[in-house]
Amino acid sequence: MFTNQHHLQHLLRPDQYTSEAQYRSELRHLFQPAWHPLATKDELAKPGDFLTFDLLETPILLRNFDGKLRAFLNVCPHRHSKLTDKPRGNTERLRCQYHGWEFNAEGGTGKIPDAKAFRPWDRDNSCLRQFRVETCADLVFVNLSDNGVSLREWLDPVWDEWQCYGGAYRHTTTWECDFPCNWKIVLENSLESYHIPEVHPKTFKEFSAEENSWHELTENFTSYKTIPPHDFAARMSNWMVRRLGQPVTNEYWHRVRHPHTTGASLDVMRMMQCVFPTGPTTCRYRSMLFTLRGTRRGPFAWGVYRFLRSISKIVAHQVFREDATIYEGVQKGMEASPHRGVVGTREERIYHFQEYVNRECAGPRELPMIAEHGA
Ligand code: FES
Ligand SMILES: [Fe+2]
Repeated sequence: MFTNQHHLQHLLRPDQYTSEAQYRSELRHLFQPAWHPLATKDELAKPGDFLTFDLLETPILLRNFDGKLRAFLNVCPHRHSKLTDKPRGNTERLRCQYHGWEFNAEGGTGKIPDAKAFRPWDRDNSCLRQFRVETCADLVFVNLSDNGVSLREWLDPVWDEWQCYGGAYRHTTTWECDFPCNWKIVLENSLESYHIPEVHPKTFKEFSAEENSWHELTENFTSYKTIPPHDFAARMSNWMVRRLGQPVTNEYWHRVRHPHTTGASLDVMRMMQCVFPTGPTTCRYRSMLFTLRGTRRGPFAWGVYRFLRSISKIVAHQVFREDATIYEGVQKGMEASPHRGVVGTREERIYHFQEYVNRECAGPRELPMIAEHGA
């Protein structure tokens, strides 16, 4: 059941998928205030584990300091080197790769080689720039603004649903890929099932009938639910879900907290996907896959879990590759298009997303007037 019964306007113009000004505005108004799912707790499980990212033109270092997760700008206050160029690793101390300055969990300096050469100590220029880190189940989120809402408030419509990234579901793999297209092309593709027959003829095969499609459209969030066909694969997967001690819902859910945080779920798996702009016409797409481990233990349950792990990995990669085949063509088309575009009712989540982009990029809404109390 779609909310709209009439086609909708394509609210974004083609130049909004190519322009530098639009890209800058989105970084500022959509991405700066957002929380970004960057890692899973198991990737930072041991003290000293670290990961680095290039997030929205900002080099980030995420590290476990004796159980506390911290995010810093991956830039040293001494002479501006990146603290490390490694994508991941484990070190006893956080030490800059250039001259060996060391930093503690608060970003303050520890051991400084030949410290007397820096007397008197410039306290104002000795701390790492720190960013907020919060977790939702096993997902680790980072925020680039010093203030703004907590992760829980930001994820409000999905907070409870997304507690399942962990517990009965285990992180299986994370992968990312750069694409030569604007980030909104990837996001919009994920918001509609209309492309299924052309792009996924072997995996999803066809889109669900309208009676079997539910959309929820709110200001910063949309979702899609369907019940996949009850074919042999679905019966097999239901059998495995029961064997692992989980209830069978038979539901597929796709939920997006705008601008970019996307959770997709079936009973056998959970995906957390996120697309980040890396320029006006380039982006990076990151996927974290979780597979059902369930509550049963023993060799049989372990075997079922291992089987589900391999199958869900193969299918998720396959679907990812199929979608990847169209992004560049859409971008090239955008750059040459004289059309204004159109959005069908099956694609109504896109209209909603585009409304969000235009609204938020217009900047902060006016503050309410305060009534003057006359003298
Ligand atoms: S630049 Fe980091 S210690 Fe010198
Ligand atoms: Fe797709």
